[in-house]
Formats: sequence, structure tokens, C-alpha cells
Amino acid sequence: MKILIGLVVLALVLGQHGVQGERSTIFEDMNLEEQLMILNKPSIKTFHTEEGDIFDCVDIYKQPALDHPLLKNHKIQMRPTSLPEGLINEPASIATSSLSNGVDCPQGTVPIRRTQKEDLLRVKSFSDEYQLTKNIHPHTTIFPNQHMVSLAPNYLWALYYGARASISVHHLDINNDQYTTAQMWLGRRPIDQYSIQAGWMIGSKITGDNLTRSFVYWTKDQSKKTGCFNQLCPGFVQVHKQVTIGSVLKEISVYGEAQKSMDLSVFRDRNTGHWWLQLNGAINVGYLPKTLIPQLVEGLSDIAWGGLAVNPPNGHSPPMGNGHFPKGNFTTAASFTAVKIVDSTNTYRIPDDIDVKFLVENRACYNIEFHGKYLNEGLAFLYGGPGGDCKD
Ligand SMILES: *[C@@H]1O[C@H](CO)[C@@H](O)[C@H](O)[C@H]1NC(C)=O
Ligand SMILES: *[C@@H]1O[C@H](CO)[C@@H](O)[C@H](O)[C@H]1NC(C)=O
Repeated sequence: MKILIGLVVLALVLGQHGVQGERSTIFEDMNLEEQLMILNKPSIKTFHTEEGDIFDCVDIYKQPALDHPLLKNHKIQMRPTSLPEGLINEPASIATSSLSNGVDCPQGTVPIRRTQKEDLLRVKSFSDEYQLTKNIHPHTTIFPNQHMVSLAPNYLWALYYGARASISVHHLDINNDQYTTAQMWLGRRPIDQYSIQAGWMIGSKITGDNLTRSFVYWTKDQSKKTGCFNQLCPGFVQVHKQVTIGSVLKEISVYGEAQKSMDLSVFRDRNTGHWWLQLNGAINVGYLPKTLIPQLVEGLSDIAWGGLAVNPPNGHSPPMGNGHFPKGNFTTAASFTAVKIVDSTNTYRIPDDIDVKFLVENRACYNIEFHGKYLNEGLAFLYGGPGGDCKD
């Protein structure tokens, strides 16, 4: 098997989660109670999950997304009107039942995780505390408290319309002030100004606990004012009545055994221009309406897959992936497999091995190991590491 150990491409700093502000602009002048009024709508049925989440089944046409000023007259799309074509093999994924956390809302309603005052306070303190210092760090990143490991297609000047991957799911013990993700970045230059990011994360400042959860994040101004994670601000339109984004992922890989993976795709609906988020190739969870990030309407200039490890300023970096360095074995390090882009003909396409670039921001703590085309499903790589004192 071909193993190309990553070339570091420093030029690619596609996208950290800017953590300066997780609020939407409409939240700027509101107090917490007003924000909660918008986020928490009258519930038709309520689910309490084993993990302590509360899901309210909310009239689909009254969900918080529609309070966004840009979505005043938004017509909800119940399913994608066009799907990217050209899938070769569907990789096996974690069971759909393990994604719903037992939630099943009545017809015409969608589950919205209830937001508590503490959730907003926690995210706000996180945003303030992690103010990104703009020091240019010579060997790593412009954000010294964040480390990224990624693979990206390198078709200069090409535009993309989506990305897909099967992402192994892991649990890691991290401190409450750290967070770690496995994710895709979909953005448009200039760097990270406009982006959609999705995958799984562990990070109690964002999610309120230390469990592995799916997430989506969006911004259109490098996170200074717009965008947020999941449903922490109006934006993401939920259409599935069982599976939400932000839920606990219950099937977790075990070290040394065949991995449990979530199959995630984010793609643009050809007709409506909305950005769909789909799990397991069939579950249309919801979408980010095109008007939210008008800069992405023409397509994406940057896509990457990998991990992001974030620590408080001057703190220790958390583990990434499953906490182990890649060593040629798909049971002992975290992986991305079936990695594909959506091209301008709305077709899933596997980038050629030679047309990818790698970013490893701190080799002492994390690494990436490229495995080329794997099982005929797409590109594959192992990544991750233990973290620690990553200053170099
Ligand atoms: C994770 O959260 C649970 C419940 O709050 C807590 O009992 C446990 O100690 C936490 N684990 C870690 C590693 O922080
Ligand atoms: C991968 O790791 C597992 C668990 O340590 C081991 O049983 C297996 O033999 C390894 N596979 C290869 C190809 O080295």
C-alpha cells in the first residue's frame, strides 16, 4: 500500500473555528432571555435522552432558523431536489438508530435541542477567553492555541460543490477547557472567511458535556459576528424528525477493532443552492439556506478533511482522532475513508493521489498518513495524536 507521509503545506490555513463570537448578528443587541425566546419554541412533544439532552418537537415552520432576518420568507425544502451522482461503493456506517438518541417527533414537527441559559453563557465565555491572538507563528499556525491536521484537494482555481467522507468516531478524555474535532471544512477564499464545517466534536464549552457529538458550524465573517454551532443561533434548517445535528454519537470505535464511522456529506442542492447535510448517505438532516452565506453561492474554493485540536491560551493541546499517532493500521488510529468531492457536474469525484496536499501543524503532537485510494471508495488517511505540550 502506498504511504505518502504528509508534505506540510504551510500555505493552507483553511480554517480554524474562529471562536471569537458564536452569535448571529441578530443576537448582538439581545439579552440572554430574548435569545432563549427565539431558540426555544413551543413544544408539541418533548424527549429527554439518556444523556440529559432535552429535545422539543417544534412545528417545522416555527423553528428558530426562520427567525433569522435573511430567512423571513424562506420556503422550507423537505428534501434535496438533486443529489450528487456517481457513488461507487457506499461505505458501511454506524446504525441510523444510534444517531437519533431515541427521538422521533410527530409529523410536521422537528426536534430542536433545548438551549439553556448556561449554554449561551458557556459559549460566550469560551469565545471571550479564546480571543484569537493574531501573532504569526513561524512554524505552525496563525492561531497558536489551535492545531490542525488535514488533507485537501489541490485543484487550483477549481470550484467544488460538496464533500463527503466516512469519519471514524471516537471518544477521548479531554479537559473541560479543550475541544477536539474530526471534520470537513468547506469554504471560500479569503481564508475561512466564509465556511461550513461539520463532523464530530468533543468540547464541553460548546456542547455542555464530554460526549462525542455530531456538529455543524457556519460563519460568513470569520466568526466575528455571524454563525454558530448547531442550533445555538438561527440558521440551520432542521427537516429530519429523528436525527439532529449536535446529537450524541452512540457507536464509538474501540481501539484495535474495526472502526465505527459516520458517513457525512455536505453538498449544494443544484436547483435551490441550499447546503444539505446528509448522514449515512440517506438521512437528510437539514440544510443551511444559500442566503445565509451568499459568498458560497458560486461554489467552494477550499475543502479539507481532518482534525482540529483547540486548547486555552498557553494550555496543553488535547488529543486528536483517537489519541494515537497513525501507524499503518486502520484499527489503531482514527481515519477518514471514502473521501470525495462534488465537482461542477454534480458528481462525486475521487481526487487523484497526486492532487492532494497535507497540513500538519505540529508534528510533535499529531500526524497524518495518506493511504491513497482505499477499498475503491475514495481516498483514505489515518490521522491524530496524543496532543500535549505542542509549543515548538
Ligand atoms: C464526563 O462527564 C461526566 C458527567 O458529567 C463526568 O462524570 C465525568 O467525570 C466526565 N469525564 C471526564 C473525563 O471529564
Ligand atoms: C492492527 O492492529 C490490531 C490491534 O493491535 C492487530 O490485531 C492487527 O494485527 C494489526 N493489523 C496489521 C495489519 O498490522
